[in-house]
Amino acid sequence: MRVGILGSGLMGGKLGTLFARAGHEVVFSYARSEQKLKRLAREAKGKARPGTPREAAQDADALLLAVHWSRIDDVLNQAGDLSGKVIVSCSLPMNADNTELVVAHTSSGAEELATMIPKARVVSAFNTVPSEVLFGIFEARRKATRPSLVHCGDDSSSKGIAAELIRDVGFDPVDAGPLRIARYIEPFCLLVAQLAYEGKGGPELAYRFERVGR
Ligand SMILES: NC(=O)c1ccc[n+]([C@@H]2O[C@H](COP(=O)([O-])OP(=O)(O)OC[C@H]3O[C@@H](n4cnc5c(N)ncnc54)[C@H](OP(=O)(O)O)[C@@H]3O)[C@@H](O)[C@H]2O)c1
Repeated sequence: MRVGILGSGLMGGKLGTLFARAGHEVVFSYARSEQKLKRLAREAKGKARPGTPREAAQDADALLLAVHWSRIDDVLNQAGDLSGKVIVSCSLPMNADNTELVVAHTSSGAEELATMIPKARVVSAFNTVPSEVLFGIFEARRKATRPSLVHCGDDSSSKGIAAELIRDVGFDPVDAGPLRIARYIEPFCLLVAQLAYEGKGGPELAYRFERVGR
């Protein structure tokens, strides 16, 4: 697939690199320096190049949205017309100092995003995992037991694309249902962050859904 990265920071830089290593054609965009985008593309060791958000969006089969909530308007403006595009968003609706969700309980960042770009197809994914573990998960991807990664969205073909990307990184994709389920997933992401960064276990923590009983 052609995957455009909108936001090439901790999440976008790592996930874009892994998508390229999994064989996808990646365009890294939206960082404060072009040098960084060039370096990411070079170090991805796959089919990857730097570009503008508009170039990342052009001909993309999927776009990863990985910016701070305060940068969403700017990056979407720079990307241009996203009609029909699959937007896989890991962006959480956090306040400026990253302590609270600014959209919660009765809606979610993912749902707000879908209203900002009504003609795009939004899937919420990758936000339940600390960026520090992504390379390790990728390296262990052929092991029988993989950590789960939940995603949600209203369009099944877009969720299929997201699931493929999730699998390529090394997770077992779990379809959590329609996009409105993001209002439960996003607070869960804060729980993961709390356990990863404030708890004793560190970011290596993983979750796995298993059926019990029966
Ligand atoms: N990090 C995690 O473990 C994690 C986990 C779950 C969810 N999330 C969510 O994922 C999203 C991305 O998080 P992140 O940790 O990857 O953030 P990040 O490292 O700050 O990356 C954001 C990207 O946006 C770029 N950017 C910021 N301001 C810009 C500007 N004015 N012009 C151009 N580019 C600009 C940054 O550029 P530079 O590269 O130059 O800084 C960076 O590439 C957030 O919504 C976060 O809540 C993160």
